[in-house]
Amino acid sequence: MPAHAAIIMDGNGRWAEQRGLERRAGHQEGARRVRDIAAACIDHGVAVLTIYAFSTENWDRPVDEVSFLMDLIPERLEAERSTIFEQRVRVRVLGEVETLPLIDRVAVQDIVRQTAHHDALDLNIAFNYGGRAEIMRALRKLIREGVHPDDVTESLISSAMYTAGQPDPDLLIRTGGDQRSSNFLVWQSIYSEFYFTPTLWPDFTRAEFERALADFATRRRRFGRVPAAAQVSGASVDG
Ligand code: IPE
Ligand code: IPE
Ligand code: MG
Repeated sequence: MPAHAAIIMDGNGRWAEQRGLERRAGHQEGARRVRDIAAACIDHGVAVLTIYAFSTENWDRPVDEVSFLMDLIPERLEAERSTIFEQRVRVRVLGEVETLPLIDRVAVQDIVRQTAHHDALDLNIAFNYGGRAEIMRALRKLIREGVHPDDVTESLISSAMYTAGQPDPDLLIRTGGDQRSSNFLVWQSIYSEFYFTPTLWPDFTRAEFERALADFATRRRRFGRVPAAAQVSGASVDG
């Protein structure tokens, strides 16, 4: 099982367009899918689930779509509030919430604070998130703290990221058929296993998530090393 699964929830707009609906209907429907996937993570012992909800590039969409998406996160969090508490989900936001209207920002920050002691699942919501923006923010933070250049290590940079203290994503899923990262978890995904599916996000079910988990279980992760068997024979040649 992956300790950390991350999902690029893509295809909401196309899902709606295929039904002759407005794109926002796709976002609305897509947001409802998160609940089942989070529940599946809890059942399968996946400790961290990161979902990509709004990228730094998504600001370039039409104003009405952007404002709909801005409202969607606080609205869904409020709707799922009791489930979040019952299931003991710890919510974290990756990205800058400063862009939200004050009332929504306070609501989101409240739920982050109130769930900080929960331990069943870490739900990271990447919102107004960009992988490069995250790295830039981390560098600024370290420089501001006066860290000496010689003291900069990979683990220090990791600790300055939004995902501080969490394992890197083992499995990175993208729905909607495209095969790119779109600025998601740039620092953390270097050894993620990618799983691409043409399924549009509002159609992504628990069963399909479980297929992705099963597929992950067949992957052989080498992290740059040679397979264990070759290592053994290599040792005998050397020695
Ligand atoms: C993903 O669905 C959700 C966000 C990017 C906010 P899209 O809105 O990108 O849907 P498509 O890719 O246009 O179908
Ligand atoms: C990635 O989807 C961002 C989110 C799912 C939030 P996009 O639809 O924005 O990505 P591109 O434009 O196809 O790369
Ligand atoms: Mg898209």
